[in-house]
Amino acid sequence: MAGAVTIGWGSSVPDNVVTNDDLAKRLDTSNEWILERTGIRERHMGGVTSELAIAAAKEALASAGMEPGDIDLLVLATTTPDALVPGTSAIVQGALGTRGGAFDVNAACSGFIYSLVAAHGFVLAGSKRVLLIGAETLSSITDMNDRTLAVIVGDGAAAVVLEAVPGQGELLSWNLGADGLLRHLLCCEHGGYLFMDGKEIFRRAVRIVVDSAREAIVAAGVTSEQVDLFVPHQANVRIIDAARERLGIPEERAMVTIDRYGNTSSSSIPLALVAAITEGRLHAGDLVLLSGFGAGMTWGSALLRWGG
Ligand code: ACO
Repeated sequence: MAGAVTIGWGSSVPDNVVTNDDLAKRLDTSNEWILERTGIRERHMGGVTSELAIAAAKEALASAGMEPGDIDLLVLATTTPDALVPGTSAIVQGALGTRGGAFDVNAACSGFIYSLVAAHGFVLAGSKRVLLIGAETLSSITDMNDRTLAVIVGDGAAAVVLEAVPGQGELLSWNLGADGLLRHLLCCEHGGYLFMDGKEIFRRAVRIVVDSAREAIVAAGVTSEQVDLFVPHQANVRIIDAARERLGIPEERAMVTIDRYGNTSSSSIPLALVAAITEGRLHAGDLVLLSGFGAGMTWGSALLRWGG
C-alpha cells in the first residue's frame, strides 16, 4: 500500500488588508456587527488566483526542498479560476514547470478536502509527489456593495506538497458528500456575482460538519477526544464553535484564522493548516481533523495522522 505524507507547505495572501472599519466607511455595517456575527476582523483582498497559487506553491516547494520537476501531479482547488478555459492549474503548471498532470477541482469551500482525497488516490495509483493548492480571489466575484457578502469574503492561497511513502501515510479516513438539489443556496452565474442564502446555509452547516466529521472519526476507529487539532472551513466563527462543541472538541484544539483571512473558500482550510504548522501547533503523530462544507452543496472530512 502507498500512502502519502505532507513534506512542504506555503501560503500567499494579497498585501492589501481590508479591516472591518474600512468596509464600514462605505457600507451600512460596523466592526462590532461583523466581529460579533462572523468572527472576522480583517481580510486580504486583491490579486489574481494563479499568481497567489504560484507564490504559495513556490513557498511549499522550497519548504519541501523540492524543485518543480520533482512534482508529478498538480491539483488546484478553486472556484475563482483566472479563465473558464484553460484551468488555472495549467497557468500555474506553465509558470512552475511541474511534471505530469495538472487539473482544477471546483467543489467550492470543500475543494481542498476533495483535492486532498483525490491526491491520496493518485498516490495509491502511482503518483510520487503531488503539489496541492487551494487558491481563491472571491472578492472578484463579489458585489462589494452587498454588505452581506462583502464583509465575509477574502482572497489568498495555500499549498502543500505530498510525498508517497510505504504504508498508510497520513490519511486515516475520509468522507465526501454532495447534494446538488441545494445548489441554489450559494451560486454565481457566468459573469455575475455570488449569491448566498446565508441563513439557510448557516442552519445546515453545523449539522453537515458534525455528521461528516463524526463519520471520519468513527471510520478511523478513534474518538473526538483524541483529536489534537480541528481545522475546519473558516466560514463563520459561530459555525466553527457550534460544530466544535457538538463534537466535544475544546476551543484550544480548534484552528481559527477567519479573524485574519475572512472566508477564502478553497483556500480556507489549507491557509488554516499552514498557519497551524508555522505557529507550532502541529506535531508529528498528532491527529488532525479537517472538515469543510460549501456551495453545491458539498462537504467532506479527512482525518490525518500528522507525519504518517
Ligand atoms: N452589517 C450589518 N448588518 C447586517 C449585515 C452587515 N454586514 N448583513 C446583514 N445585516 C443585518 C440583516 O439585514 C438583518 O437585519 P434585520 O434584522 O433588520 O433584518 C440582521 O443583520 C441579521 O441578519 P442575518 O442574515 O440574520 O444575520 P446572521 O446572523 O445570519 O449573519 C451571515 C449573516 C454572517 C451571512 C450568516 O448567516 C452566515 O455566516 N451564514 C453562513 C455563511 C456560509 O457558511 N457560507 C458558506 C460558504 S461561503 C462561500 O463559499 C463564499
